[in-house]
Amino acid sequence: MADPRVAAEQAQTRAAAEPLLRVRDLKKYFPLRQGFWAALRGQGDGLAIRAVDGVSFDLHPGESLGLAGESGCGKTTTGKLVLKLMEPTEGEILFDGRSLRDLSGADLKLFRRRAQLMFQNPYEALNPRFTIYRSILEPLLIHGIGDAQEREERVFQALERVHLSPPGNFLGKYPHQLSGGQLQRVVLARALVLEPIFLVADEPVSMLDVSVRAGILNLMREMRRELNLAVIYISHDLSLIQYMCERTAIMYLGRIVELGPTERVIGEPLHPYTQALVSAVPVPDPHHRASALLIKESVPTPIHLPPGCRFQDRCPRAMPKCREPVPLVRWEDGRLVECHLYAS
Ligand SMILES: Nc1ncnc2c1ncn2[C@@H]1O[C@H](COP(=O)(O)OP(=O)(O)OP(=O)(O)O)[C@@H](O)[C@H]1O
Ligand SMILES: [Mg+2]
Repeated sequence: MADPRVAAEQAQTRAAAEPLLRVRDLKKYFPLRQGFWAALRGQGDGLAIRAVDGVSFDLHPGESLGLAGESGCGKTTTGKLVLKLMEPTEGEILFDGRSLRDLSGADLKLFRRRAQLMFQNPYEALNPRFTIYRSILEPLLIHGIGDAQEREERVFQALERVHLSPPGNFLGKYPHQLSGGQLQRVVLARALVLEPIFLVADEPVSMLDVSVRAGILNLMREMRRELNLAVIYISHDLSLIQYMCERTAIMYLGRIVELGPTERVIGEPLHPYTQALVSAVPVPDPHHRASALLIKESVPTPIHLPPGCRFQDRCPRAMPKCREPVPLVRWEDGRLVECHLYAS
């Protein structure tokens, strides 16, 4: 574990610097396809799934941010938007001071090199007909990096960096000849061969056997330090986020309901939704009783949302005020929480 004083100093230095990624009031709505009869009657017009609905956060160079929340709350959509894999309905994303909306041509290509995605499923991420050598070489060819010899050296280095050594044992193999853990290392090598400064890792170990997860996570921590990578980790798993991330954002139905230093958000959650998520994490103690703060029912689809707080129907601490617009409160420790309970 890092010295907390050093970590606090680093966090302060970062906060003073310009963020690498600045996201403001980001929205992504997926229009609902309506049936023929509904269309004829003019019903269903304008209905949409509000997958991301007003998300704002900053990410500094070298920083790690966790995005957590139940299935369907908009984590992957947020990840795709900040990588410009889809266009937002509204809102602004600045990367290194420039709006992603305006990027095209050489600038877009440079962004594609500096910002990488690590997929959840290593089996789908690699072309089954490519050898490992070809898979890692491909991005270098696409971006026209180096001559043949330089590219070969970079592929070797990338494999060594992810501890697949000696590289000669892996270069000629095809994905089906490697284990899931080895493949996820190849996926990481392929993302890092372009020397990115920003990585989105969407459930990077959820498909892997438990026995190899720790190895991949430790490798990712090592890479982040070595390359000063800014990383967004997307996961349902709060213990993974706790291990990997300096700051954590908790999402619920398209919004960030709590954001702050991981040890505060997970250690002493303020929002009733975060409290419920934390209390649902299994504790290896037979005498431990789960908190009474368990949330009711499953997460609804973000189409018909109540006025005010989106969590009110499932919240054990809901009050009449929760029907009114929810304030964003800055807590004493700098955390942001979107909840009436904390408004003065
Ligand atoms: N291309 C799409 N078209 C229509 N709806 C979509 C599309 N992509 C996502 N959605 C919807 O948007 C909402 C958010 O989806 P998203 O995949 O971002 O959630 P998530 O938090 O990543 O969930 P999970 O934890 O299951 O991966 C969901 O209701 C989903 O059904
Ligand atoms: Mg997802």
